[in-house]
Amino acid sequence: MALLEDLKWRYATKKMNGQKVPQEKLDYILEAARFAPSSSGLQPYKIFVISDKEKLEQIRAFSFDQSQITDCSHLLVWAAWDGYSEARIDDVFVRTTRERGLPTNTMDDYKKMLLSMYEPLGKTWQESHSAKQAYISFGMAIAAAAEQKVDATPMEGFDNAKLDELLGLPQQGLKSAVILPIGYRDESNDWLVNLKKVRVSKEAFATEIA
Ligand SMILES: Cc1cc2nc3c(=O)[nH]c(=O)nc-3n(C[C@H](O)[C@H](O)[C@H](O)COP(=O)(O)O)c2cc1C
Repeated sequence: MALLEDLKWRYATKKMNGQKVPQEKLDYILEAARFAPSSSGLQPYKIFVISDKEKLEQIRAFSFDQSQITDCSHLLVWAAWDGYSEARIDDVFVRTTRERGLPTNTMDDYKKMLLSMYEPLGKTWQESHSAKQAYISFGMAIAAAAEQKVDATPMEGFDNAKLDELLGLPQQGLKSAVILPIGYRDESNDWLVNLKKVRVSKEAFATEIA
C-alpha cells in the first residue's frame, strides 16, 4: 500500500523551489535506478547527475524554457547506448561471470545468440531498444523519489541532439533518452499541485483474461 500512496502523492512538478535534495536521498534514487531490470541484464545506459548551474541554464535554453531544469536540485539524464556491439555485450558477461565466480566462457553461447539476434536489426532498432531499457530505470527512479518525498518531473521536452552535444555523449557512444529534474515543489506557485490526478479507469486499463 505504501508504494501506491507514494505514487498518488507524486506529480509531474511544474514549479520547484530550489531546495537541495540531501545526498543520501539522491544516492537512494540512483540505487533504485541502478537496480532496475534490463533485457538480458545489459543495462545499456548511464545516468548523468547535473547540478552545475551554468550547465542547467544551458539545458533549460533548449528544453522549452522549463523552469524545473534550473530550479531543481539535480538533473538526472539517462543516456542510452547508441548500439549493441560484441565488445559492449562481452564486457557485461565477463563482469557477470566474474562476480558470480563462474568460468568466463559460461555465457558464450548466449552472447552469440544475442549478437546474432541484434545485429541484423540495425542501429536504429538497437538505439530504441537501449532507450526502452533506460525508461525502466527512469520509472524506478520516479517511484524511489516519491518514496523519499522528493519531487520529480519526467521530461522528454528537450532537444536530444543539443543535450548530447553539451554532454559529449556521441564520443561515449551514448544518446540522451529522457531526463528527470528532482527537487522540491513550490506549493504556492505550482498550478498543478492541487489538481486531481487523472488516470483511465481500472476497468478500461486492465483486461483480465481468466
Ligand atoms: C516520458 C515522459 C515525458 C514527459 N515530458 C514532460 C515534460 O517535458 N515536461 C513536463 O512538464 N512534463 C512532462 N511529463 C509529465 C506528464 O505530462 C505527466 O507525467 C502526466 O501528465 C501524468 O501526470 P502526473 O505525472 O502528474 O501524474 C512527461 C512524462 C513522461 C512519463
